[in-house]
Amino acid sequence: MASIAIVYHSGYGHTQRQAQVIAEAAGGQLIAIDADGNLPEAAWAQLDAADAIILGAPTYMGGPSWQFKKFADASSKPWYSRNWKDKIFAGFTNSASTNGDKGKTLDYFYTLAMQHGGLWVGLGEVASNSKAATRNDLNWIGVFQGAAATTPSDASVAEMLPGDLETSRVLGRRVAQVAAKWAR
Ligand SMILES: Cc1cc2nc3c(=O)[nH]c(=O)nc-3n(C[C@H](O)[C@H](O)[C@H](O)COP(=O)(O)O)c2cc1C
Repeated sequence: MASIAIVYHSGYGHTQRQAQVIAEAAGGQLIAIDADGNLPEAAWAQLDAADAIILGAPTYMGGPSWQFKKFADASSKPWYSRNWKDKIFAGFTNSASTNGDKGKTLDYFYTLAMQHGGLWVGLGEVASNSKAATRNDLNWIGVFQGAAATTPSDASVAEMLPGDLETSRVLGRRVAQVAAKWAR
């Protein structure tokens, strides 16, 4: 079985719920970036050993939270030694507005993965965009680069939308399938 790490930051718990759903679906290990933008020291070795790294952060001010960016800058160390080259990468984000510039956060994750020499795995699902589609359908937001969730600004973690969580689950499963083939 492939080794999968989900490294994420979440300010208020919503992106963390997405991370938990993805970890469960992928059979992966969660690595939380803390409020100061730091990882447990052992997490760097865990990331070096992973076949796949799934990146997650809330979209804050049209990009990933600064804590995620601090992690990304600190990843210049494995970048120098090319430790993450040829790993599978994927990403997820959550924000309050339907669009909310979430695409910028996913673009950033993709660029980071490319800097590391990784291979990007997108969602692999079409959008639910017919007249009959409802807000709780898979990929209702219509994002293909990764898993995107929209949580209204006054919604609790428990009120996150099931369709968005299912979309996250689909990404986790897909990364596990691709990583298993790749790690063979
Ligand atoms: C500093 C800050 C900036 C934010 N910027 C955006 C934004 O650019 N677009 C958006 O749709 N939501 C934005 N939001 C809303 C958050 O993305 C949303 O509340 C999300 O659920 C927070 O996830 P978390 O609980 O994992 O921190 C912002 C929230 C904060 C606190």
